[in-house]
Amino acid sequence: MKVMVMEMEEGVKDNAASTPKSRLTNQSRALLSMRLLQILLFFLVLALGISVVGIHMIKFLKIQYLAPVAPTTLISMYDHGTVTLESFIRPPLNVWHTLNDTELLWRASMEPRRNVYPFKRFPKLAFMFLTKGPLPFAPLWEMFFKGHEGLYSIYVHALPNYKPDFPRSSVFYRRYIPSQAVSWGEMSMCDAERRLLANALLDISNEWFVLLSESCIPLRGFSFVYSYVSGSRYSFMGCADEEGPDGRGRYRNGMEPEITLSQWRKGSQWFEINRKLAVEIVQDTTYYPKFKEFCKPPCYVDEHYFPTMLSIKHRIFLANRTLTWTDWSRGGAHPATFGKADITETFLQKLPGAKACLYNDQKSHVCYLFARKFAPSALEPLLQLAPKILGL
Ligand SMILES: *[C@@H]1O[C@H](CO)[C@@H](O)[C@H](O)[C@H]1NC(C)=O
Ligand SMILES: *[C@@H]1O[C@H](CO)[C@@H](O)[C@H](O)[C@H]1NC(C)=O
Repeated sequence: MKVMVMEMEEGVKDNAASTPKSRLTNQSRALLSMRLLQILLFFLVLALGISVVGIHMIKFLKIQYLAPVAPTTLISMYDHGTVTLESFIRPPLNVWHTLNDTELLWRASMEPRRNVYPFKRFPKLAFMFLTKGPLPFAPLWEMFFKGHEGLYSIYVHALPNYKPDFPRSSVFYRRYIPSQAVSWGEMSMCDAERRLLANALLDISNEWFVLLSESCIPLRGFSFVYSYVSGSRYSFMGCADEEGPDGRGRYRNGMEPEITLSQWRKGSQWFEINRKLAVEIVQDTTYYPKFKEFCKPPCYVDEHYFPTMLSIKHRIFLANRTLTWTDWSRGGAHPATFGKADITETFLQKLPGAKACLYNDQKSHVCYLFARKFAPSALEPLLQLAPKILGL
């Protein structure tokens, strides 16, 4: 602006001093080109200024825009630059990720609210194995899953430093999730179960979730298990209001008002639940702190947390029984373990109906689909009997 003002002043001065015509035109011509040059220079400086500011603005905006996206490993896992339906419904090929528990539980707690899926959804049964590392019955499970691809998914929680060495052809290949250390009977056990549920929830097609240990075996073939679970009106979570020191005796008054003594429940750690209840478990921030603070050994939190919290809000969806047979008849804190010598056809045949039960409110002969605990030595006779037992 200063340049222009000075120009004008000069012009005024020139006009005031009237001189011969030719001199005047020469002078004004020179002046005109000078002015043009100055105006041009002015615009050049202006344009330069704008572009410098613009570049900084773009940089600033880019950082602002990328910030919330960068840590979302889920998006990069799908390798999608733009949002597509595929990026929501296609499960990652590898279950490994870089989310910590806080991020994982938050992500897993998201659920669609519309009842109709905009794609063909085959509901899958998620098998979640909780182990220190090895899966001694892997060959039996391989037989169990064979030929049912697309109807199941597998997740394994092991000790964090365990290196699985399943071949590419195995159903357990790359199915070990990011895990943490677990102490028996402590909150870290429920943390591991929630971690398994959360990982399995990331696959939108998983509809039912069954928790198993490395010492569990199937008692029926896959098709039977799938139709039993998918056809059930209820989820299989053991929920009992038990008297005595191992039941109500483990309740603490400090849990009030969130949990009262009459709401306190006990059930087997090994459950099968549907997606709705799985989301309930991963989203819970109400009951979790109470159990973490007040339920410590000899209050075994894995026997109380999920049964209690689910029966408070969702009791009408619970079958109040487990699908996993366990022999507690010998007493003590640990159930009986069965080895090679125990495995006979008669023994295995009677396990599914070992106890009377209801299925969809009707009396049923089959109450258990899985059983524990089995020692690795049981594998060999189990593989021999598998075609008969699993109906292969
Ligand atoms: C996970 O990461 C977030 C963000 O860095 C952090 O706020 C949170 O405390 C972390 N959670 C755990 C369990 O480490
Ligand atoms: C399970 O127990 C609850 C009470 O805790 C009850 O309301 C529900 O009906 C029971 N479920 C079945 C299938 O009987």
